Amino acid sequence: MHIDPKQFEHIQKEAATELAHIVTREDLERLRLKYFGRKEGVLTGALRSLKDLSEEEKKTVGHAVHTVKLYLEEALAKKERALIEAELHDQQRKEKIDVTAPGKKIPAGHLHPLTQLIDKACDIFIAMGFAVVEGPEVETERHNFDALNVPKDHPARDMQDTFWLDPAVAGPGMLLRTQTSSVQIRYMETHEPPFRIIAPGRVFRSEATDATHEAQFYQIEGLMVGKDVSLANAKAVLEVFFQRLLANKKISIRFRPSYFPFTEPSVEMDVTCFKCFGKKCAVCKRTGWLEVAGAGMVHPKVLENVGIDAREWQGFAFGAAPDRIAMTRYGIDDIRLMYGGDMRFLKQF
Ligand code: PHE
Repeated sequence: MHIDPKQFEHIQKEAATELAHIVTREDLERLRLKYFGRKEGVLTGALRSLKDLSEEEKKTVGHAVHTVKLYLEEALAKKERALIEAELHDQQRKEKIDVTAPGKKIPAGHLHPLTQLIDKACDIFIAMGFAVVEGPEVETERHNFDALNVPKDHPARDMQDTFWLDPAVAGPGMLLRTQTSSVQIRYMETHEPPFRIIAPGRVFRSEATDATHEAQFYQIEGLMVGKDVSLANAKAVLEVFFQRLLANKKISIRFRPSYFPFTEPSVEMDVTCFKCFGKKCAVCKRTGWLEVAGAGMVHPKVLENVGIDAREWQGFAFGAAPDRIAMTRYGIDDIRLMYGGDMRFLKQF
């Protein structure tokens, strides 16, 4: 066996040229295998065959092989570092944040039309010195009925079909409030007159649902108690409220006699139709008026029930129906749309 040491110079040159052309780490790995692969590697083979040479040749050839081996190992390592660095640089360049690039828009929703209306109502009443208070949706029979002068067998309870809660779970006499008037009681129990409050919130009635009836809807309760508060004040406050709500349009209020157990006298409150502004249209059934609230002077018995002296204090209360106001205002003909969560409906507001 004879090996010419000179051939290793040639191998080294060839390897150097190949190395110079390599741009990926996969190709580099392939080159490494070509020279150092355990089975087929050019240098591995050469090293293996050293043992078959004469002592003399072992020295010269061995030296030549080792020179190439060292050279190539170093060159491969250097190339690998360079490739890794280039890769990193590339990655960084790609990841660089362009602070001037236009942002990605996250689709934002908006408040429900009813929430918008109630928020606006709160703002207007706050401007008139009213405080906004809230009460629980799960109520006691006392707050929802008894203290409001609606005793157990009173026919007025039938006007508001009630969701009673399972006494085994909720305790006796618990219900989903049928009216926000319960908040009147809660507030008066814990505050000294004079006061003005509104209490917006959701109420529940066991109704067969149709276009004008839902098992849940909203009310805005109002209560103003003072030394000489009268129905004239109710009229003025609500007139201002509706005028501001409807962008300062000329709006009037009228009262029609009615009945509620917790007010005396009681009235049904109409406002100028805000579709036709009194010209008489289909929405107001050609009357020029819309019924939007029940109201009245707080019944002396109710004041007594919460420990307020009815000879000293008096006031008005009202319960407005924001669902109906929103429906008329926006021309919504089915109350169920308000609670259906249909995006095609909601996106219009
Ligand atoms: N709570 C009454 C209802 O739900 C409305 C109302 C409130 C009437 C306050 C008078 C005073 O029908």
